[in-house]
Amino acid sequence: MNPMWEAALGLGDQLRWAAQLRLPQLPSGDRVLVTGMGGSGISGDIAGLLAAESGRLALVHKSYGLPGWAARERPLVVAVSYSGNTEETLSAVAAAQELRLSMVAISTGGKLADTAQQGGVPHVGIPSGLQPRAALGYLAGAVCRVLEGAGVLPNQAPGLEEAALVLDSLFGKEGKGPGAQLADDLAEGLVGRIPVIYGGPGLTGVAALRWKTQFNENAKRAAYASWLPELDHNELVGWASIPELTRRLIGIVELRDHTEHPRVAKRFELTRQIAGGDVAFVGNVWAQGETTWAKLASLIGIGDLVSLFVAAQAGVDPLPVAPIEMLKQRLAEE
Ligand code: PA5
Repeated sequence: MNPMWEAALGLGDQLRWAAQLRLPQLPSGDRVLVTGMGGSGISGDIAGLLAAESGRLALVHKSYGLPGWAARERPLVVAVSYSGNTEETLSAVAAAQELRLSMVAISTGGKLADTAQQGGVPHVGIPSGLQPRAALGYLAGAVCRVLEGAGVLPNQAPGLEEAALVLDSLFGKEGKGPGAQLADDLAEGLVGRIPVIYGGPGLTGVAALRWKTQFNENAKRAAYASWLPELDHNELVGWASIPELTRRLIGIVELRDHTEHPRVAKRFELTRQIAGGDVAFVGNVWAQGETTWAKLASLIGIGDLVSLFVAAQAGVDPLPVAPIEMLKQRLAEE
């Protein structure tokens, strides 16, 4: 089995690993800034979502240095990089060290682990040998456990464990369960098309971002994510003027949650009525489970499989991300 399929079907086991993770002694925090990029950085979006639900503040920073407010608000900085060598994340860490902010580092090793060791910063090690995006359960699980250890999030184990159970039943034995079937059907609707993923505020929005980036990296395909209610104030107008193109090439997938705001639910329906005729395909996926972790994992798990089915239809190897490697190499030479 291609390692990307193996990792996608292993998401539940990664979340179980995170639930059992033994944490080092951690600094406590009030507000948190998670810094990381790409397949690692999305852990910060997930942490932000869970923190907001608990009435706490965790923001994600996906760039160099730190945001201007960090010097004054003095957040606990959680630096997450699968490789440990991502330059934006290392730059944020250097800025945090300059400000003497409390910090925790999460990586498989790399310069981030070295910097942490030299600076007396607690470091959480992640299993190595995967593509960063294939380690989402390890990364996001570890980030949220660290926030639990810092006193920002409540006990994460019940949510992580429910998420793993929901994935078990969606994927079934050998990845042939109902979630895999749904993913295959959605991939059929997206053959030769550009996926546009619609999420709402909160968990479906975070899942939409993950779907988009998985289409980009696994299927090597342009894909976009947009969010309700905001898209009803702009993008809604944008589908009508080149129907010969959009009716052939655009496939929208709506990510839904039974507990979404009722006006957002209404907006999903009306948006589909208004824009659905101007695109080639509209499909949807409903989140499953009770906890936020389970709902998020169900949407992400299915999305990961859709991106892999789309890659398979197009004869594309989902694993390598040559343009990202090339760009990093060129930046290193500058
Ligand atoms: O999926 C990928 O390979 C990228 O999005 C990486 O996650 C991103 O470039 C950051 O690298 P790292 O996760 O090692 O910090």
